[in-house]
Amino acid sequence: MTEMKIFLPDAEATRKFGLTLGRSLPAGTIILLAGDLGAGKTTLVQGIAEGLGIQDSIESPTFTLINEYLTGRIPLYHLDLYRLEPEEAEALHLESYWDGLEMDLGIVAIEWAEKLPYTLENYLQICLSYCDNGRQVEVRGNGELKGKITIASPS
Ligand SMILES: Nc1ncnc2c1ncn2[C@@H]1O[C@H](COP(=O)(O)OP(=O)(O)O)[C@@H](O)[C@H]1O
Ligand SMILES: [Mg+2]
Repeated sequence: MTEMKIFLPDAEATRKFGLTLGRSLPAGTIILLAGDLGAGKTTLVQGIAEGLGIQDSIESPTFTLINEYLTGRIPLYHLDLYRLEPEEAEALHLESYWDGLEMDLGIVAIEWAEKLPYTLENYLQICLSYCDNGRQVEVRGNGELKGKITIASPS
């Protein structure tokens, strides 16, 4: 189990932290993003997209639940489950995003993952919280993660 805590003084630091993740994380990584409204979850995903080499602008899929970006190093599946009703979850077949059967494996980044009606075994938990005028990010690996994850502090 990996664990780390970093202070992100501004939005640029959040984006750069995401960029590092996007450059290094292997296909099949699931990132569960926790944190209050405005904590920086979408900003982090924007950095991840940039690290993957995706040029599209990333907006939170609050109403669509899922956005797929297929033009980077590996696919990015960005989920925002804020508006997910528990009974909708099954019909969405979310597991197809990480079982690699119907879709190419990529990075699955999930905002409001606490709305998932089931628990996952292997994932990276990233919690963002307000801290002074910036944010604090805590990263924890759970279960077996694909590949070794080395994250340097954002510079
Ligand atoms: N480390 C940070 N310090 C200060 N502001 C930040 C930081 N990271 C992101 N922000 C800002 O917080 C606001 C909300 O970010 P957003 O990514 O939309 O949050 P969320 O998706 O968690 O609701 C944005 O204006 C963003 O620029
Ligand atoms: Mg958001």
